[in-house]
Amino acid sequence: MGRMDRSLTASALGLDPAAASSLSTVVGFAEPPPAPLGPASEAGPVLDLLGLDGADRADLLALWPDEGWPRAARWLLDACYARVVADVGRPGWVDWPDLVSAADARVRCAPVYAFVAATPALVERHARLGVGRDVTEATLADVGRHVAKNRDMFGHVGLELPVWIALHYRGSLFEAGRLQYEPSRLGPGGAVTWYGADAGQGLPEELREGRPSARLHIPETGPLDPVAVEESLKRGRAVLAAATGGDVPVATCTSWLLDPQLKRYLDPGSNIIAFQDRFTLLDEGAPGDEDVFRFVFRRTRVVPDEVRATTRLERGVLDLLGRGGHWRARTGWLRLP
Ligand SMILES: CC(C)(COP(=O)(O)OP(=O)(O)OC[C@H]1O[C@@H](n2cnc3c(N)ncnc32)[C@H](O)[C@@H]1OP(=O)(O)O)[C@@H](O)C(=O)NCCC(=O)NCCS
Repeated sequence: MGRMDRSLTASALGLDPAAASSLSTVVGFAEPPPAPLGPASEAGPVLDLLGLDGADRADLLALWPDEGWPRAARWLLDACYARVVADVGRPGWVDWPDLVSAADARVRCAPVYAFVAATPALVERHARLGVGRDVTEATLADVGRHVAKNRDMFGHVGLELPVWIALHYRGSLFEAGRLQYEPSRLGPGGAVTWYGADAGQGLPEELREGRPSARLHIPETGPLDPVAVEESLKRGRAVLAAATGGDVPVATCTSWLLDPQLKRYLDPGSNIIAFQDRFTLLDEGAPGDEDVFRFVFRRTRVVPDEVRATTRLERGVLDLLGRGGHWRARTGWLRLP
């Protein structure tokens, strides 16, 4: 499909023209079969599993796909489902539509319904692999958290980053206790850095580029309690073995949370600093101001003048920027226990 088709599709969906290119990985599904989505009256157990409640659940039930849906929105739902099915087991990054600019909530929620439809197959796959039911449930609860975050950030129902939730559905993300694990291989990519090829000779075998690893992610599920982190890391290796069928001895993390500049501002006994201390850091990393604004102030842009600092972290974030400094997303690694 060419640029023209993406533009026409974006316009039919009521998207900002700038979002047209984000449709590239779904426009190829010109006539996808209907996603196997049951009726709203039977959706309760799946919505429970996805942690969708309150206003989000009510909105999703009220908007449930039916004959009255615009054709473009229904196509999007079915194309998203086709994307999920095509990508099961596929490693690496796959772009997903950016639907934030859609005024029609049905368009914004089309990927959510696709994920709802794909949930039974995910549950079955996890069970077949021997991934614990608690891990499956925790992994899926991230859907509800992200839909809730969308409401927090934009004031209405939607899913800002279906690209993130798509990871879970293709078997690339598992939540075990406090942390999430994304099976991967060591090497650079996006904001993730790794040792250069010339350093490879001096590195232990398990740290060489291309070796299996897990990228760690920190969901917003409350404090980063060190005991909970330790318990999660102890469990992680077994979960990864089930998920990948092989041993994964090393985990990496690329995050603003690993920026050592935080040490200037946070108490040495704080959870974030204790987390940092588990990792061996690589080089200078990637720009991190946007991530910091997203995860600290829940803003999609770096807008120091529009936010108010109450916590020590918030004050530190603004202080560094005020001095002309910048936050970095740093990569670090650790050996899984
Ligand atoms: C990671 C996280 C759980 C750490 O929270 P925590 O366990 O409370 O962290 P600490 O105990 O080290 O907190 C130290 C200080 O920073 C504050 N703080 C921590 N995270 C904060 C956040 N996201 N926003 C605002 N303030 C925060 C705490 O309130 C505390 O300040 P205080 O001393 O004035 O009370 C939290 O930042 C979070 O949920 N982040 C979002 C997820 C995320 O960033 N994931 C990584 C994506 S790359």
